[in-house]
Amino acid sequence: MKRRAFIKNCSVSALTVCGTTTALLGCSDPAQARQKTGLVVPRNDAGELVVSKSAFAGQSTLLLAHPALLFPILLLRSDEENYVASLMSCTHQKCKIEVAKGQIICPCHGARFSLQGELLRGPAQRDLASYATRVADDTVLITLE
Ligand code: FES
Repeated sequence: MKRRAFIKNCSVSALTVCGTTTALLGCSDPAQARQKTGLVVPRNDAGELVVSKSAFAGQSTLLLAHPALLFPILLLRSDEENYVASLMSCTHQKCKIEVAKGQIICPCHGARFSLQGELLRGPAQRDLASYATRVADDTVLITLE
């Protein structure tokens, strides 16, 4: 085998092992892994996520998790009555995205979104998936379907 072909084969093998390891670790305990990604919130009888306004504790954003979700939800408080809930999954190739420096950034290929979930920079082509929200007393309710 020539040197170039050997190096190419080794690279492919290393990526395969790495990807398989990541997939296996990621699937080992999905519920536990998800719960580490945000504040775990309950659902009410109507299936809405129930978030206490006090959970914001002076912050304008809150990362939420629920066992029914594959990705966290970023809940942004615009004001006391208006909230935006965005799924933290990149619309390019579904990488988990992160909040950094006042934006939502995809670590995979660099897409950027505003905290409201609007696309700012590709390669993604769409805004983030969002969920309807409503306020009831001291809680914010998020409709998942
Ligand atoms: S998966 Fe997010 S930019 Fe590609």
